[in-house]
Amino acid sequence: MELDPRTLDPYPFLTGIVTPRPIAWVTSVSPAGVVNLAPYSFFNVFGDNPALVVFSPNLKPDGTKKDTLLNVEASGEFVVNASVARLAAAVNLTAKVLPHDESEVPLAGLTLLPGVRVKVPRVAEAPAHLECVVREIKPYGTHPGAPTLVIGEVVWMHIDDAALTNGLPDPHKLQTLGRMGGTFWCDTSRGLFEQARPT
Ligand SMILES: Cc1cc2nc3c(=O)[nH]c(=O)nc-3n(C[C@H](O)[C@H](O)[C@H](O)COP(=O)(O)O)c2cc1C
Repeated sequence: MELDPRTLDPYPFLTGIVTPRPIAWVTSVSPAGVVNLAPYSFFNVFGDNPALVVFSPNLKPDGTKKDTLLNVEASGEFVVNASVARLAAAVNLTAKVLPHDESEVPLAGLTLLPGVRVKVPRVAEAPAHLECVVREIKPYGTHPGAPTLVIGEVVWMHIDDAALTNGLPDPHKLQTLGRMGGTFWCDTSRGLFEQARPT
């Protein structure tokens, strides 16, 4: 099959082919102090000097900005919490659309720890955290679904000693999650599994 991404909806193909995608589980804080938490799989690390991560909160179907984008624009800070197998249900639950003044943290039964270099807290239950300051925000349009690249520099890292072997991250212990196409996810310790988006 040959496909021109401009003549059909390329989303299921792009998200089915570019797999597995790491999942940034992003905490951010609103100007009123509400802690937001949401998963983003349009995400990766792009360098180590400076240590750069990028994720894309795409515009909502009505063309407005997601809470995470509003918060990082206002505060210039965010934290990427590690998405791991034992937290798969909680990661998915935090994709639920809540009003801007409501936090996903209690909804998912999670607790917070303070950041060291940023004012944004991190998810205590996650085994690793990247504290980030925004370097650049690049919008690609104002239409529904338009990507907006949030480029952040990692200014502090935390990782549980229990996830290390010889002082380095051990994939057997960390058990990170990946996002596949459709309702499929991948658990690096047991392969594919399915989770539908929360309604
Ligand atoms: C695993 C997973 C990955 C997701 N990745 C993205 C993404 O890369 N970009 C995006 O705009 N939405 C993504 N979403 C949807 C957002 O998490 C969802 O729209 C959420 O409500 C945004 O929350 P916020 O408005 O609090 O930022 C993803 C959802 C899940 C479950």
